[in-house]
Amino acid sequence: MSLKTTCLTYFVAIFAVLLASRHVIDPNSSPLKHIVDLSLATTSSVPSNIISYLIPNHIGRHHKKKDNGTIGSICDDFPRGFPPPDPNTTSYLCVDRNGCCNFTLVQAAVDAAPAVSQKRTIIWINNGLYYEKILIPKNKPNITFQGQGYESTAIAWNDTANSSHGTFYSGSVQVYADNFVAKNISFMNVAPIPNPGDFGAQAVAIRISGDQAAFLGCGFFGAQDTLHDDRGRHYFKDCYVQGSIDFIFGNGRSLYENCQLISMANPVPPGSRNVNGAVTAHGRASKDNNTGFAFVNCFIGGTGRVWLGRAWRPFSRVVFVNTTMADIIAPEGWNDFNDPTRDQTIFFGEYNCSGAGANMTMRAPFVQKLNDTQASTFRNVSFIDGGDWLQHNIN
Ligand SMILES: *[C@@H]1O[C@H](CO)[C@@H](O)[C@H](O)[C@H]1NC(C)=O
Ligand SMILES: *[C@@H]1O[C@H](CO)[C@@H](O)[C@H](O)[C@H]1NC(C)=O
Ligand SMILES: *[C@@H]1O[C@H](CO)[C@@H](O)[C@H](O)[C@H]1NC(C)=O
Ligand SMILES: *[C@@H]1O[C@H](CO)[C@@H](O)[C@H](O)[C@H]1NC(C)=O
Ligand SMILES: *[C@@H]1O[C@H](CO)[C@@H](O)[C@H](O)[C@H]1NC(C)=O
Ligand SMILES: *[C@@H]1O[C@H](CO)[C@@H](O)[C@H](O)[C@H]1NC(C)=O
Ligand SMILES: *[C@@H]1O[C@H](CO)[C@@H](O)[C@H](O)[C@H]1NC(C)=O
Ligand SMILES: *[C@@H]1O[C@H](CO)[C@@H](O)[C@H](O)[C@H]1NC(C)=O
Ligand SMILES: *[C@@H]1O[C@H](CO)[C@@H](O)[C@H](O)[C@H]1NC(C)=O
Ligand SMILES: *[C@@H]1O[C@H](CO)[C@@H](O)[C@H](O)[C@H]1NC(C)=O
Ligand SMILES: *[C@@H]1O[C@H](CO)[C@@H](O)[C@H](O)[C@H]1NC(C)=O
Ligand SMILES: *[C@@H]1O[C@H](CO)[C@@H](O)[C@H](O)[C@H]1NC(C)=O
Repeated sequence: MSLKTTCLTYFVAIFAVLLASRHVIDPNSSPLKHIVDLSLATTSSVPSNIISYLIPNHIGRHHKKKDNGTIGSICDDFPRGFPPPDPNTTSYLCVDRNGCCNFTLVQAAVDAAPAVSQKRTIIWINNGLYYEKILIPKNKPNITFQGQGYESTAIAWNDTANSSHGTFYSGSVQVYADNFVAKNISFMNVAPIPNPGDFGAQAVAIRISGDQAAFLGCGFFGAQDTLHDDRGRHYFKDCYVQGSIDFIFGNGRSLYENCQLISMANPVPPGSRNVNGAVTAHGRASKDNNTGFAFVNCFIGGTGRVWLGRAWRPFSRVVFVNTTMADIIAPEGWNDFNDPTRDQTIFFGEYNCSGAGANMTMRAPFVQKLNDTQASTFRNVSFIDGGDWLQHNIN
């Protein structure tokens, strides 16, 4: 099977889940619709009945005809005068998969970025799906990936824990450099969705191991272990994260603002007490670490019956502030990794959340209903020392 076909199979599977679900996400308004459009636009061998079933109003992007009936050059839509002349503080590299500017692969542009520069390197990436495994090494700081929208620009690969020396190396994109920024682009892992009990099928979309990283308007698509928020201070705003088990995990110190966290765990029968997913698995291992995940003004929805977090390490720290939760959250809310010795050291808190999943009456005893003072630690960018670096990096 070609990677394109694999990719498509994956999208079809996700759609099947979405359509079969009681908690229906309208496929026509899901970001996945647009990614499927994108995928189909580059795939010729898809049965048309599947296309029409999934996307009634699908319009192929690359078959656009000119008004006078001739088929134009694929580069006709490419923005004129791009890239612009380098301003003082940034320098541009341009990626277009159809070859309309310097680079056709994102990795080639990363390789071309200078190791040491007073300027930020903006890698401008045109619409399209880039099938690449990408590494940003430690010695390439100050890189920005600028996409054209997380529904229309995506990087995808399909490694799993088995195919890549373990989960930590399965990321389609791996960021080891500091000061990385991504805007309006999606990161995907399109490996087969694990069946319950599968071993070695975890598949990370992105690993973020550099300090002071920011993601604005980005998408993260995978199933188990989608977003490896590994280490460093990270900021996420207006992002869309999809997964099933532990789909945001790692030992980062991170603020997620105004993000959608969408579970794609299998729908469970009404009344079932099984839990088949977890939004987070934070890896704080010592009381001396100041790491943690803070979610502010977010939305949790999708399918399955999931925990807000599992205590991957004994000092796991996660809070949800002002977040709307659909009725996919198990009433106990959280899990101590089935290790009661962790109950004394984990920090799982909720503050002013709403929605059917946010009812705290049946929460596990170790869960904290935060007061104003406690919540204020997590509520804004000071949690990640954002005042020092955030504006500077994202401007
Ligand atoms: C990734 O896709 C390629 C091409 O379809 C396939 O050969 C390979 O086995 C896939 N890898 C995994 C881990 O599924
Ligand atoms: C069709 O229009 C394009 C510009 O939109 C022009 O370059 C081309 O020559 C036209 N072809 C014919 C046959 O008129
Ligand atoms: C940018 O460079 C130009 C010419 O080198 C200089 O005149 C201008 O003051 C610089 N602008 C900034 C903001 O540094
Ligand atoms: C990109 O292409 C332009 C010409 O279109 C060229 O002047 C420039 O040097 C190229 N940049 C790189 C980094 O290859
Ligand atoms: C990264 O950019 C900042 C300014 O934006 C600069 O001070 C720093 O030296 C750069 N780092 C490297 C290694 O080039
Ligand atoms: C992302 O794209 C939207 C819509 O095209 C645009 O309004 C917004 O400014 C972009 N944001 C970033 C950070 O690039
Ligand atoms: C991963 O590898 C193990 C051991 O070789 C094997 O038992 C398992 O089926 C593999 N998992 C997947 C998803 O391929
Ligand atoms: C966590 O704390 C240990 C010491 O207890 C320290 O060595 C390590 O660097 C810290 N890790 C992070 C990510 O802060
Ligand atoms: C919660 O959300 C409301 C409106 O959506 C906003 O006014 C309020 O400031 C938010 N609270 C926090 C702590 O962010
Ligand atoms: C609590 O959340 C509601 C929305 O559900 C919001 O209107 C209100 O401002 C929030 N309160 C605080 C203190 O953030
Ligand atoms: C919260 O859950 C409890 C126990 O299931 C129930 O009695 C109560 O009515 C719920 N509260 C709301 C506001 O739904
Ligand atoms: C908030 O909770 C903390 C920890 O339980 C407590 O020490 C503090 O006094 C509380 N603050 C307020 C204003 O209730």
